[in-house]
Amino acid sequence: MRIYFSIFVLGMALAGSGCELRKAMYDQPKLRPLQKSEFFSDERASRTLIEGTVARNQLHEDDHLYNGLVNGEHATTFPFPITREVLLRGQERFNIYCSPCHDRAGMGNGMIVQRGFKHPVSFHDPRLQSSPPGYFYNAIKNGFGQMPSYADQIHVNDRWAIIAYIRALQLSQNATLDDVPESERSSLDTAQIKPGQAAVAAH
Ligand code: HEC
Repeated sequence: MRIYFSIFVLGMALAGSGCELRKAMYDQPKLRPLQKSEFFSDERASRTLIEGTVARNQLHEDDHLYNGLVNGEHATTFPFPITREVLLRGQERFNIYCSPCHDRAGMGNGMIVQRGFKHPVSFHDPRLQSSPPGYFYNAIKNGFGQMPSYADQIHVNDRWAIIAYIRALQLSQNATLDDVPESERSSLDTAQIKPGQAAVAAH
């Protein structure tokens, strides 16, 4: 019994000193963000970043992934493998961010265009059919003419997913029955495929 009591007393003593320690840390001399400082000659407590500082994981060295460029030219390939998941993600993001103007099938007849915004060229125009993925990446990242940049809204990987889906849309508009696997053909007559979903449904 006595030994338990001793442990209890010891525990209390330690807990007490811990509390003292915390208080000492709380009271230590420190400066709050943007507070005035007597120590630094510019009187700013918050130091400016050293030139060239890069936040962890934000070096963005990969020109292909982050800028859509390979050797300074629009990338002709995707920087990561395009799976069904990527395509479905691209479909969802395209329908949210691009279809208001480019419409769900990519013809350029979205609701904002119907209400007077400039009509973009259809993604099924031969010029855009043969434009490389990096060309589309550039438009999303930097904007294009009257179209604003979507860099703030759409994360890098999602931009590529959207481009993959645009490629699928382009294929869907030029597909023949021969492009559909034989096992899937019978389902084409009955399937209720909504515009803009045709591509993924058929793949
Ligand atoms: C607010 C309407 C709007 C939205 C939303 C929009 N665009 Fe555009 N986009 C346009 C217009 C308008 C043009 C043509 C601009 C011009 O010629 O001045 C254009 C042009 C483009 C072009 C270049 C076409 C060419 O002729 O070379 C691409 C590629 C493109 N958009 C992709 C996208 C993608 C991908 C998204 C979704 C992430 C998107 N756009 C969202 C309106 C929009």
